Amino acid sequence: MIQTLALRRPDDWHLHLRDGAMLRAVLPETARDFARAIVMPNLVPPVVTGADAAAYRDRILAALPKGAGFTPLMTLYLTEGTDPADVVAAHEAGLVTAVKLYPAGATTNSASGVRDMDRVRPVFEAMAEAGIPLCVHGEVTDPTIDIFDREAVFIDRVLDPIRRHTPALRVIMEHITTAEACAYVQAGDATLGATITTHHLMINRNHILAGGIRPHFYCLPVAKRERHREALVALATSGFGRVFLGTDSAPHTLARKETACGCAGVFSAPVTMPCLAQVFDDAGALGLLEAFTSLNGPAFYGLPANEATITLAKGAPLEIPPQIETGDGQVVVFDPGTPILWRVSEG
Ligand code: DOR
Ligand code: ZN
Repeated sequence: MIQTLALRRPDDWHLHLRDGAMLRAVLPETARDFARAIVMPNLVPPVVTGADAAAYRDRILAALPKGAGFTPLMTLYLTEGTDPADVVAAHEAGLVTAVKLYPAGATTNSASGVRDMDRVRPVFEAMAEAGIPLCVHGEVTDPTIDIFDREAVFIDRVLDPIRRHTPALRVIMEHITTAEACAYVQAGDATLGATITTHHLMINRNHILAGGIRPHFYCLPVAKRERHREALVALATSGFGRVFLGTDSAPHTLARKETACGCAGVFSAPVTMPCLAQVFDDAGALGLLEAFTSLNGPAFYGLPANEATITLAKGAPLEIPPQIETGDGQVVVFDPGTPILWRVSEG
């Protein structure tokens, strides 16, 4: 029986670091275990230009604990006013790794996102030409579509047309939550990848709604039925090369979660690696954890895998700290409610 497991240092291909006091509090939680992260640009106001990304990167680097070997990989927030030349220049300068597509109104701070895909076609064309990947929040915003169907409908109505129109565009389906998305990424070619979060591998919609409403499990896309969670676990633990970890760790203060209209977001950064080791152990697939957390993502992004390693050890159940303190208030840490027997023993 395996009791310790050494992996190449993982990367997080979808992370919210926020800004100011929140950034300073949450960044060390990721930098402890991860070498790199794709940093989401949905600040208020959003990170839209190369100059915005440079300034945000500097604030992240200034907030890093001393000696932390962590590299933020910056993204730009796509708007209908995005200048293709600015995107390409920021990428060529090594400043920006990817561009993020939020359909306007789909989620937190997405109001400046895209309403009409035709208006951003020139950006997609320029990105395809320059090899810049597009990270996609894949949910339609049509209020007549049931919230549990918004991802599957997005694939048919929005994503597939984008990919047919610009076949060379590299696309990452972020935080996939459905069996339909699993099937779509598997059927795709080498230009298509997907990320899966820690929490979507561990919770289904009953966790949010059965026996009381649990706001700390609420995120977007919302967790679906158990059969979808099972499809996500099967894909993540299969060794399939175009799927990789993107935690979507998204801190909100306790006050903004435990309220009549709570924010979407699960803060999983502090416990992600122990939780994932448990998921892969339960699936009998510990040997494929490294592919999911440390190899497939760099391969898709055309970056080298990390040389450093971390070691996970199995033992007594992990005591998950209920929250972390930030200058903006407490942030509750993801706790799946089932025993986690793994921990990071050497970082
Ligand atoms: O749950 C979520 N929280 N989903 C998103 O897409 C955005 C994120 C956030 O920024 O809080
Ligand atoms: Zn996100």
